[in-house]
Amino acid sequence: MIKYEDCVFTLQAGKLCYQMMIDKHSKLLHLHTGSEVKESTSHLLSFADRGFSANIEEEGRERTYSYDFLPCEVSERGLGDFRSSSILIEAEDGSITTDFRFESYSIKKGVIDIHPLPMAYGEDAETLEIKLKDEKLDCFLILYYCLIDNAIITARKLIAGSPLSVRKLSSLSLDFMYQDYEIMSFNGRHCYERQPLIQEVRENRITISSRRGTSSHQANPFIILAEKGTDEVHGNCFGVHLLWSGSFQIEAERNQFSSTRLIASAEDEFFTFELKKGETLTMPAALLTFSEQGYTSLSNDIAAFTRKHILRLPKEYRNYVLLNSWEACYMDFNGEKLIKLAKDAAELDTDLFVLDDGWFLGRNDDYTSLGDWQEDESKLGMSLSELSEKIRKTGMAFGLWVEPEMVNEESNLYKQHPDWALKTPGRKLVRSRYQLVLDLSRTEVAEYILETLKKLFRGKNLSYVKWDYNRSITDFYSATASRENQQSVGYRYMQNLYWILYELRKEFPSILFEGCSGGGGRFDMGMLCYTPQIWLSDNTDAIDRLDIQFGSSYGYPIAAFGSHVSTCPNHQNGRITPLYTRSTVAFMGSYGLEFTPATLTESEKAELKSEIAEYRKQAELIKKGNLYRLRKDENIAAWLIVSNDSKEALLSAVKLSTHGNDLDYCIRLRGLEKDVIYEVAGQHFHGSTLMNAGLKLHFENKEYSAFRLAIKALQ
Ligand code: GLA
Repeated sequence: MIKYEDCVFTLQAGKLCYQMMIDKHSKLLHLHTGSEVKESTSHLLSFADRGFSANIEEEGRERTYSYDFLPCEVSERGLGDFRSSSILIEAEDGSITTDFRFESYSIKKGVIDIHPLPMAYGEDAETLEIKLKDEKLDCFLILYYCLIDNAIITARKLIAGSPLSVRKLSSLSLDFMYQDYEIMSFNGRHCYERQPLIQEVRENRITISSRRGTSSHQANPFIILAEKGTDEVHGNCFGVHLLWSGSFQIEAERNQFSSTRLIASAEDEFFTFELKKGETLTMPAALLTFSEQGYTSLSNDIAAFTRKHILRLPKEYRNYVLLNSWEACYMDFNGEKLIKLAKDAAELDTDLFVLDDGWFLGRNDDYTSLGDWQEDESKLGMSLSELSEKIRKTGMAFGLWVEPEMVNEESNLYKQHPDWALKTPGRKLVRSRYQLVLDLSRTEVAEYILETLKKLFRGKNLSYVKWDYNRSITDFYSATASRENQQSVGYRYMQNLYWILYELRKEFPSILFEGCSGGGGRFDMGMLCYTPQIWLSDNTDAIDRLDIQFGSSYGYPIAAFGSHVSTCPNHQNGRITPLYTRSTVAFMGSYGLEFTPATLTESEKAELKSEIAEYRKQAELIKKGNLYRLRKDENIAAWLIVSNDSKEALLSAVKLSTHGNDLDYCIRLRGLEKDVIYEVAGQHFHGSTLMNAGLKLHFENKEYSAFRLAIKALQ
């Protein structure tokens, strides 16, 4: 619901309320974000004559009105607001002051149209558009607020009436007048993504950012801003996601009067976008979510929202259980070996075979061939179409790995178009995994990639594509961009990437696209709009995965996690864990296998087959239920998935430390109905007993053992 009354906009999206007012100078002030309020909260604004605070000329001799402390919907530089700005523009005369004032507003049905930038979908969406104008610059700033269910999606667009250099245009900017806040960010590294870090928001600005041209393993464009003291079940907290997969920055700071500011922006501090008269720039959307009851309810709301309004599942979607060839054979295979792998996997009742890296022209190691997306018939011993047919005969659907944004110097593509790679003229190449990044900011390169992939995908009977991306962008320099457009190469790159993905999905609506960037280096809401599943991490060790899965679950639905059982000792860290444990951990996502079934003993095969059957039984609950992170410390990781009607649940736990004469562990469940009787391993308990007293976890006396229990309501 969007209401406008006495110069105050009140947006109520489910339990999330957002309020702004147009003040006496036509400036837009931010009044409130949080639980419902029924009237204007402008009584909370404070006006005071404060030392060193600046006052605009219209105020005459009055010294109590200053942007040094007023909560601004658009925070600008040059008018007395010394905090981080959400917009930075250099005018033709070199000045950087902006002064955007209210012009008009409109309310429309539907979502914001910012194609091909990622956007949510939803039939009942309504969007408020507020138009602001900077008189001197003759420039309009459009603020969009799209209400869908219990979330608000914001985006911003500039329309230039004179030439401008845009240095920053944030997607979301929030000022909180009171309360103390903490910010949770999700940092990591390759093979160890999204580890939560909580920092108090104080006077020194916190910046969470990626400058890698991707959202990255090291940071994530999702944060939780929470009132101090918030935990899994208590406290007001806000989720902010950028629907963006490139560089980004999220800034949080407190000012001298204890107000907190949060700004989320696509691109980093090196961004500049030149606009000529009449041109526009739209920055990506940001998703704002809210909970009054701590992190668990926030995460579950985000997960439900993502499933309903972000993920576009392919036509005839199936809950595939896949086998991926990567850890089974890396690049060492031929057609016969792959068919044998598929047959063995089919016997375990998997139903999708994914041919990973190594299938195209001369690709026997990672030094060559990226860019040449034609099958290597001499290696495969057959064409890709024949292989696909043969795999299908084993009863499996067929999927293929590609890494289309990259090129190796040793490739036909690079030989023909050396200038298609991003590189700085007059400097030596900067390689990573011995590859270069194609300049997708160029239309002809983007079009070439799209056409090449269309040709490749046609006639192969593909059910699945894994879209990989295995390096960061170092030198953002395009051979054809003008000097002034070099600093927007990263932005244009992303726009074209989304366009390619959109066009491919349109032509191949039945293909399930799984995103990947060395595992989870581009795990974000932007990619999830185009690839509803993402390989969570290159680390397949069950114990490390627990950290990665728990961390990722704060901001993303587990339905989107590519999650595989791999071999032991684990290829990334050498750890040995029981098969049941590996499988239990892989249950927290979209299940698959990543090894050679022939290496299993008969009893392991039987165990895995029954695990796959069990996963299929539980897949609906796992992918659509609510997740409760029950416990995670040096001894135990325990989690519970409960169906939306609370009638079914799956409790899982892994023992992380082993001792002689070990302790018993009891865990209290959550999310059940207190008066409903549940059946648990043949015994009956009220939900209240399970939630208030708990259940004992019966672990086998063995290192890293796991425990899993299905729970069902009797009525
Ligand atoms: C990346 C992916 C892996 C695999 C390899 C292939 O590292 O994350 O899963 O596809 O590339 O080169």
